[in-house]
Amino acid sequence: MRILAIETSCDETAVAVLESDGRVFHFPIELVSSQVKDHAPFGGVIPELAARRHIDNLFPMLEQSGVPRTGKKIDAVAVTFGPGLVPALRIGVEVARTMALLWGKPLVAVNHLEGHIYSAFIEDDSNRAGQTTLPLRLPDFPALCLLVSGGHTELVLMKDHGAYEHVGMTRDDAAGEAFDKVAKMLGLGYPGGPRVAEAARTGHAEAVRFPRPMLESHDFDFSFSGLKTAVMIYLKEHGAAAPQAVADICASFQEAVVDVLVSKTLRAVNEFKPRSLLLAGGVSANTRLRTELAYALKRDAPQVVPFFAPLKYTGDNAAMVALAGYFRAVRRQFTDPLLLQADPQCRLV
Ligand code: KG4
Ligand code: ZN
Repeated sequence: MRILAIETSCDETAVAVLESDGRVFHFPIELVSSQVKDHAPFGGVIPELAARRHIDNLFPMLEQSGVPRTGKKIDAVAVTFGPGLVPALRIGVEVARTMALLWGKPLVAVNHLEGHIYSAFIEDDSNRAGQTTLPLRLPDFPALCLLVSGGHTELVLMKDHGAYEHVGMTRDDAAGEAFDKVAKMLGLGYPGGPRVAEAARTGHAEAVRFPRPMLESHDFDFSFSGLKTAVMIYLKEHGAAAPQAVADICASFQEAVVDVLVSKTLRAVNEFKPRSLLLAGGVSANTRLRTELAYALKRDAPQVVPFFAPLKYTGDNAAMVALAGYFRAVRRQFTDPLLLQADPQCRLV
């Protein structure tokens, strides 16, 4: 099966082609065009600007993909339909459903979060630069997924392909959002996550004892808005003029976020007894989070097999959409192109 996949949910335009016989997963095309530079002056993503850039980028990328304009040799088109920014999602959705209609090919609607989950099935690619066949490792189910991105912080129990149960989620800001806002307060620029993580490398994580929101709550929900406010109050009272002060605040903030994410995930592991643990989403690029989660799992639940998304696939990309789309296509879960709508709030089902 050959799938063409498109991702335009936020500020990356991405196109991928996946070829698979069910055993080998070959990605002859993987293109990602980031708009970070366009949005950086605004300190965040401007939805209408993102949509315009997707239009500018998507057609040249489709030409570059080498997929014939007739759709020849493509068996299905997969596209992210949500969650995300409506103007941005719409570009991918409209282009994908037009192609599916004109080519007479089936259309697979992919939930962006499901895409992130499938990115954790790709084995670490650090030693295979330039290769287009990606080794996949399928987890044993049930698998607990910690999804941490700019828009989402969720614990999801994956019982099988396409079968999800929500275990916990953020009640306010997502973890990535908190990283981005703290970076803004400290004048570190956008996107904030990598900048805070970089500054934290030379900071002391015990320098400031920031709160660990919801750590003691008896559910699996998260909340990061109070932590963000705690950083703001600390800054008002103490300032952060010296580079070391900035580094200490970043390290202490990061420690608080990682502490809550790891503790709650381990508690959910205890409760739901999954056979695998998946970590994915933009924030899963955070080294401290990866190290602490791997350590805690080894210590407290060594029987659970970790599947961490390779660094190259933690951010938004279309390979993950193609993979999630593939596993839906083999189950023939197609969507009528005339009925597909961008859905900014869609849930995993
Ligand atoms: O998954 P993603 O690329 O887009 C969404 O679907 O939201 O996630 C982007 C988020 C941003 O908030 C960014 O600051 C955060 O991931 N991020 C990080 C790191 N790299 C990216 N957060 C913490 N540490 C990082 N190293
Ligand atoms: Zn994402």
